[in-house]
Amino acid sequence: MRVSVVGCGYLGAVHAACMTEVGHEVVGIDVDEAKIAALSAGETPFFEPEFGELLERALSSGRLRFSTKSADAAGSQVHFVCVGTPQKAGENAADMRYVDAAFTALADHLAPGDVVVGKSTVPVGTATRLAARVAEVQPGATLVWNPEFLREGFAVQDTLHPDRIVYGLPEGPAGQRARAVLDEVYAAPLAEGMPLVVTDYPTAELVKVAANSFLATKISFINAMAELCEVAGGDVSALADAIGHDDRIGRRFLNAGLGFGGGCLPKDIRAFMARAGELGADQALTFLREVDTINLRRRDRVVEIARQVLDGSLAGRTIAVLGAAFKPNSDDVRDSPALDVAARLHGHGAQVRVTDPHALANAARIHPDLRYVADVKQAVADADLVLLLTEWREYVDLDPTELAIQVRSTTIIDARNVLDPQAWRNAGWTYRGLGRP
Ligand code: UGA
Repeated sequence: MRVSVVGCGYLGAVHAACMTEVGHEVVGIDVDEAKIAALSAGETPFFEPEFGELLERALSSGRLRFSTKSADAAGSQVHFVCVGTPQKAGENAADMRYVDAAFTALADHLAPGDVVVGKSTVPVGTATRLAARVAEVQPGATLVWNPEFLREGFAVQDTLHPDRIVYGLPEGPAGQRARAVLDEVYAAPLAEGMPLVVTDYPTAELVKVAANSFLATKISFINAMAELCEVAGGDVSALADAIGHDDRIGRRFLNAGLGFGGGCLPKDIRAFMARAGELGADQALTFLREVDTINLRRRDRVVEIARQVLDGSLAGRTIAVLGAAFKPNSDDVRDSPALDVAARLHGHGAQVRVTDPHALANAARIHPDLRYVADVKQAVADADLVLLLTEWREYVDLDPTELAIQVRSTTIIDARNVLDPQAWRNAGWTYRGLGRP
């Protein structure tokens, strides 16, 4: 099939390459000229495991191209809208300007029988509004809402083998025709037996924000338990293991630590609350305010522990920060808890040295005031304190005995609870986790 993908960020670029991989002929469209030039040359504008090889394969197949011109969407039968919906400045609500611009750009290039597929995370009600716009400009085209559940760091695998597919369809024959088109687009994962949920627009939109809200709630739940463990002398990791054995609870997303960040969970729960308020159902989601607050409180706690272990003062102390990305295997620093903590320590007068395997360039754009170094060795040299803030494999695997020789003081805060406390203590370190004795 001929497919266009509007918006070539973390979601769209991977989606475009994956659509090519499963046999379609794809054009990826974005207004960012530098990004399009890079993608066209086979260079990945962001770090995502497996994406480089996939992009190369897709480009050399001759079935993938990139363009800055929305007119190049003409001729495709399916148009995916994959642009971002960031948080509005100073408000909880989502900024819809990129979604609206994408639909405006597509408007002149739709033909009868085309299917427009919304993938962006949007406030419930958006699809109904946009379907009316599509009907106005091209009555023969149909809008489908098809939320995306990929995780950064696993984007390629999650796109090629999603754990479910959701179609939000309009009622009537147009919806059924659009469904048949999407079944063809997703023939490969559907053939693998992927569960397919076919529903209406509002449910499809809500599935996405409900899933992210549930994940955020799970993380804040275990972080609240960490707060309790801290005052009661318990161990939240053992607690998570124990409750996680109950299948109804499950162990995944129960890792207590510095909490969630990134371009999705934080802004999605806030936008969901804002939308619930507009719909007069704000009470239904007031618990998400608490989820957000618990999450942000973890960052305060790490700064507080840092101050404690440095005998009450951060000013002038040398602190090594391991990790700037919001999670490992990504170079994304949007709402990164790690970078936020580094900036706060810097604000308190500490000499902060931040390192990260892939996220330093992005971090420096947001926080040019911080000092960035290329590797762990440079970060920890003569440090008074080491902070592990993003659990990259290479940090988890650090040898405590070797590291002890390089620092001024053998004190580490493991803000992701990924190190073996006993091994570090045996090597002479003062070890502090979050919610661990
Ligand atoms: C999240 C969802 O997991 C995806 O399903 C969804 O498609 C995506 O948002 C989106 O809306 O686009 P992502 O933001 O890539 O994916 O990252 P996650 O793996 O969900 O991690 C989010 C944050 O939670 C990270 O900062 C991570 O460190 C933190 N986390 C995760 C914890 O603190 N504890 C855990 O147990 C798990």
